[in-house]
Amino acid sequence: MGEECLTAAPVILLDQTDSTNAEARRRAEAGETGPLWIAARRQTAGRGRRGRAWEGEMGNLFSTLLTTTRKPPAEAAQVTFIAALAVADLLDRYAPPSVVTIKWPNDVMLAGTKTCGILVESGVHANGGLWLAVGIGVNLAEAPEGTERPATALSHHLSADHVAPPTVERAAEELAEAFDIWLERWETLGFQPILDAWAARTPGLDGPAVARLGHETLEGRAEGVAPDGALKLRLADGSLRLISAGDVFFGEAR
Ligand code: BTN
Repeated sequence: MGEECLTAAPVILLDQTDSTNAEARRRAEAGETGPLWIAARRQTAGRGRRGRAWEGEMGNLFSTLLTTTRKPPAEAAQVTFIAALAVADLLDRYAPPSVVTIKWPNDVMLAGTKTCGILVESGVHANGGLWLAVGIGVNLAEAPEGTERPATALSHHLSADHVAPPTVERAAEELAEAFDIWLERWETLGFQPILDAWAARTPGLDGPAVARLGHETLEGRAEGVAPDGALKLRLADGSLRLISAGDVFFGEAR
């Protein structure tokens, strides 16, 4: 990669792989501990949340941080908020910050349309810790077509001082750098400041919302997030449900 090293964790850039998350898993299962960023110019079998595919258009960023931790799994899962904040910081550099938002829990949006997806996978490492594959896909150049929900790309939202989105190399380095900053805050200050920063960039946390979970659809009003980041959803019967995973749609129009 480029000569300057912006991050403590090295970044390797592959021309092509099946999935950077799958590559991270293979390396973890072979004993690697990281931290290591595995980026690719192209993915042939990119994985999205809930078993969906993630398209592999050239010019977009596909990157996974392989790392290991001694944190318990529930706490380690907070890394997804770090990832969303780091992507938002990356996009802020190239798009007007006012159009960059996060949608619970970790989609990063430009002008309200999905631009980035995050998929965290984990497993028990041979060293007794937990390996994490923090997979991040950012549509820099192209928005994939035919996705279940609309998608956009950074190239359509550039601020006046940019004529093109960053190269994959540059974006991979800048993402790693931004991630490091949030990671250090998390390590030194704990999760609450992370959650506060994340909530400040996440509209719709207090208002109508529909959660599509694997087996049920819940309609209600979002009432912010619990201390662990779970979405608090008040149902029509007055009960409160804590949603930790699933597709949630905010606002009146869906
Ligand atoms: C989502 O469905 O929103 C999550 C998409 C995550 C895609 C990224 S691209 C880099 C990494 N490798 C994968 O196969 N998936 C993640």
